Amino acid sequence: MKVLLATQKPFAAAAVAGIRQIVEENGHELVLLEKYAAQEDFVAAVADVDAIIVRSDKVTAEVVAAAPKLKIVVRAGAGFDNLDLAACTEHKVVAMNTPGQNSNAVAELAIAMMIFMARGQFTPATGSEIQGKTLGIQAFGNVGRLVGAKAKALGMSVKAIDPFLPAEKIVEGGAEPASSLEELYSTCDYVSIHIPATPQTIGSIGYDLITKMPKGATLINTARKEVIDEAGLEKALEERSDLKYVADVAPDNLAALQEKFGLRVFATPKKMGAQTQEANVNAGLAAARQICAFFATGETRFQLNK
Ligand code: 3PG
Repeated sequence: MKVLLATQKPFAAAAVAGIRQIVEENGHELVLLEKYAAQEDFVAAVADVDAIIVRSDKVTAEVVAAAPKLKIVVRAGAGFDNLDLAACTEHKVVAMNTPGQNSNAVAELAIAMMIFMARGQFTPATGSEIQGKTLGIQAFGNVGRLVGAKAKALGMSVKAIDPFLPAEKIVEGGAEPASSLEELYSTCDYVSIHIPATPQTIGSIGYDLITKMPKGATLINTARKEVIDEAGLEKALEERSDLKYVADVAPDNLAALQEKFGLRVFATPKKMGAQTQEANVNAGLAAARQICAFFATGETRFQLNK
């Protein structure tokens, strides 16, 4: 079978080598499409492939339709808002992700961003410490739980909320359950967002929630830019000169925000939460293994479009 690794933001060389080894040891062929310039290049590369591994690359209905031999797509990572699951299902293509494989890298970045903002983006301005502060975690999945554990080790109090988890699971995960999002936002010095982008969550964090945050609070977004109502964020930052926003998923209005609010806003130039050698290896090799297991035995454990 022909497996295409299509990554606009390439994996570390060690991950690519590991993927190649797994694919070839299982008797398949690996082809690479890295740093491609346009979506048309991706569409053109899928004509004769049986499997695709992607990161945030957009597996649209057009991509799926252009790949008549395609049987499986694996998103090497957690969020799968870049996969058109309906198109996959329509063309009998199995779609999977690799949950948990890059969580630690994202969690470490969330902690780093919190300290970076507490220390005025590493300027000599007098900053603050995170020890003794309260962190709110919005969604207590693989990443949220790791952020909570690391924050506790740094002396923070940790609260969390998750629409899919009962309070006792949050307690088991080491956090204090918040009774509502409003409570989480209004009682935490930092809120770290770990929700996926879905029709329910897109634009769901805006002026009302953000302005509930206590004085001097910081909102950290290593999830997806789409979950923020950007106009609401801008209005909140305008009205509350004490609030800060830091993101690994730059908002569309970043230039305006930085011009107006200076060091109170920061976003990475390119999403880098999962961009560690370890996360690349974990997620990339997991994707390769899942594809080989699917071809060998029909294994579909992480199938998203069942
Ligand atoms: C994920 O959903 O797994 C992360 O956002 C990582 O995305 P990336 O592979 O594009 O870095």
